[in-house]
Amino acid sequence: MRPIWLEKSSGNVKIIDQRKLPHVFEIVDLLDADDIVRAIREMYVRGAPLIGATGAFGVYLAVREAMKTSCFDEVFQRACENIRAARPTAVNLAWAVDRMTAAISSATDPSEKLALAREEAGRITEEEADNCRRIGEHGVSLIEEAARGKNGRTVNILTHCNAGWLACIEYGTATAPMYIAAEKGIDIHIWIDETRPLNQGARLTAWELGKAGIRHTLIPDNAGGHLMQHGMVDMVIVGTDRTTHTGDVANKIGTYLKALAARDNGIPFYVALPGSTFDWRAADGLKQIPIEQRDPDEVRYVQGLEGGKTKSVLLCPEDTPAANYAFDVTPARLVTGFITERGMCEATKEAIAGLFPEMAGDK
Ligand code: MRU
Repeated sequence: MRPIWLEKSSGNVKIIDQRKLPHVFEIVDLLDADDIVRAIREMYVRGAPLIGATGAFGVYLAVREAMKTSCFDEVFQRACENIRAARPTAVNLAWAVDRMTAAISSATDPSEKLALAREEAGRITEEEADNCRRIGEHGVSLIEEAARGKNGRTVNILTHCNAGWLACIEYGTATAPMYIAAEKGIDIHIWIDETRPLNQGARLTAWELGKAGIRHTLIPDNAGGHLMQHGMVDMVIVGTDRTTHTGDVANKIGTYLKALAARDNGIPFYVALPGSTFDWRAADGLKQIPIEQRDPDEVRYVQGLEGGKTKSVLLCPEDTPAANYAFDVTPARLVTGFITERGMCEATKEAIAGLFPEMAGDK
């Protein structure tokens, strides 16, 4: 199963509505660019590579929509701008929209544009699935090495948020090495941060790893430091929404604190990402990566299951103000290494450029 696909017969885009997981599994049809924008903004779909793939399908739907009007260029461009702006932090979205518009720019006939857009969105999706598999194949060596160092005893890995197949297309980024390690029969156990406010760890990563039969334990967001101090974490692997070409990592809020705790305890902190998540222009993550601020109600309320029904309940006094910064930036100096589809590297500009030489000059 994938979190997004194109239905051949209707040409509509189908997604899993991740807002409702794990208690309700619902598939939703996206019919036009407005549906795509809503799905990204309201987090029916989320996770950097999946936001990119959804944006790509959005451009395809924008062509389909514009074809039905007498002002193709105007309708198409406005739709692309809206898609691009749906969420600001994951760079994959702008990357996918730009790649899609470039891919169809040579065609003059709208139906030719539509065919090219459909092909390119499919290509982006397949490439991201393949990238994740390769990330897993490279990253598993870190787990194998840790298992050797522990004479085969359980390797404990801590992860934050959901950087699994739900956030990507297949395998995930941070989870890909875990899936491959499990396939190889390596004894692993995953500490899953609950990841407030929207609990992507508790709702999504726990669901994914449970389905895959990978041993895991859910922990409150602030437990990681304690576990690290007591030798209960061998490595941290997280995903990212945008990483500068100098190695600063934006990821789900709270990631920075895990990186600090990992450094203080001498625990390796790895970031898994495809090339599409590097920002080849930004050099300073703290100054240049836009950090999304979302509805404070996501902090003030929490969603759960009661009597078989999903319910949202208020956590704090009714008039409590809340701040909802969705991401933070972990400086490159706290990152042990990157795991990419092209291999692993240190978190330096030079090492990243060594893996992606054709992009490094593109600033
Ligand atoms: O707000 P979200 O759920 O879209 O945030 C997702 C994350 O922070 C993920 O860790 C990141 O996108 C990497 S996904 C492979």
